[in-house]
Amino acid sequence: MSEEVKKGLEGVVVAESELSFINGDEGRLIYRGYEIEDLAQNASYEEVLYLLWHGELPTRDELDAFSEEMAAERELDEDVLDTVRKLAEADEQPMAALRTAVSMLSAYDADDSDADPTDRESNLRKGQRITAKIPTIVAAFKRIRDGDDPVEPREDLGHAENFLYMLNDEEPDEVLAETFDMALVLHADHGLNASTFSSMVTSSTLSDLHSAVTSAVGTLAGPLHGGANANVMKMLKELDESGKDAKTWVDDALDRGDRIMGFGHRVYNVKDPRAKILGEKSEELGEAAGDTKWYEMSVEIEEYMQNEKGLAPNVDFYSASTYYQMGIPIDLYTPIFAMSRVGGWIGHVLEQYDDNRLIRPRAKYTGSKQEEWVPTDER
Ligand code: SDX
Repeated sequence: MSEEVKKGLEGVVVAESELSFINGDEGRLIYRGYEIEDLAQNASYEEVLYLLWHGELPTRDELDAFSEEMAAERELDEDVLDTVRKLAEADEQPMAALRTAVSMLSAYDADDSDADPTDRESNLRKGQRITAKIPTIVAAFKRIRDGDDPVEPREDLGHAENFLYMLNDEEPDEVLAETFDMALVLHADHGLNASTFSSMVTSSTLSDLHSAVTSAVGTLAGPLHGGANANVMKMLKELDESGKDAKTWVDDALDRGDRIMGFGHRVYNVKDPRAKILGEKSEELGEAAGDTKWYEMSVEIEEYMQNEKGLAPNVDFYSASTYYQMGIPIDLYTPIFAMSRVGGWIGHVLEQYDDNRLIRPRAKYTGSKQEEWVPTDER
């Protein structure tokens, strides 16, 4: 058996999947055959969820039924809301609060916890309930932390629109609702990224869907993965306050050996197609507000990083200034990533259960192989 170590599983193909395909050299992303540009332009997040989980775009009736089922599941059980309240009052980190609350959902899930954890129909129902509740958890956490009352979810608003309504206690205008819906579409799935793979590892032991999603939330939180979007905005604000030009600021950061957040990718060798779409959105929002500062600053950094390091932006680079100009608090950027990616996690878990093999790689042992035991008191 080969002992060649593939650190970080770089380039290792460990599964087949019909959910999404990335061409890292062309900068192409498709979900079940549909170009991400078409989906971003035309599909709602609910439509993309249906596509990922059921393998085809829904008819109007199928979409309406699916959306209504989801909307009816947005409310949190009182105990879960109490826990969210306690976590907010303890000033817990938002992604840690989400991890805890998502895990707790299983105790109040309508499906029998003794049911077969790999049952597809049960997991589709659980998947709808988890996906419907995450926005309510995130919005309630933020409002309680800021001293406001949580806002009850509404069933007459779309998934994206309802989140902004619960967050701000006012219905979003059409541009904000459409922009946020598009952002959820863009983040929904992305091959075997770290958080998706962790959901697969968990489900490969035939553990349950809530455990798999909880694993994924914990994994997404890291700054090399989902945590990067918030760090991009913190970087832009630091740069803005520094009085330096982008080139000098980036140079100084690189000289310190810092990573420039929002750049580089394990799969893309060119600009992430999602960054292209979000960059256009960031510019549009800036133009509508009469201030394209954040977009222009981002473009300066992008040009410099491309020229100096040959590194292109990933999805997190322009999502930062887009969310910021939408008035979304910076520490909610990664929970919002989770709000979307939960659709991909569940899609991959459904595939894993369908054709399961325990995920269990090996390590090349480099430790000592021959030690004599010495009694404790003689060491
Ligand atoms: C996401 O996998 C996915 O699909 C993820 C994602 C999704 O939708 O799920 O696309 C979402 O997580 C995007 C990535 C968000 N993370 C960041 O923006 C953090 C900053 N980026 C890096 O840390 C890095 O680029 C990674 C983690 C994204 C990718 O890391 P790799 O593939 O392990 O690349 P590497 O660390 O081996 O870097 C290769 C070289 C190194 O140079 P050398 O040390 O060999 O000289 O490129 C350099 C790195 O130093 N490099 C960077 C850099 N990213 C890589 N240098 C400065 N700034 C950076 N951001």
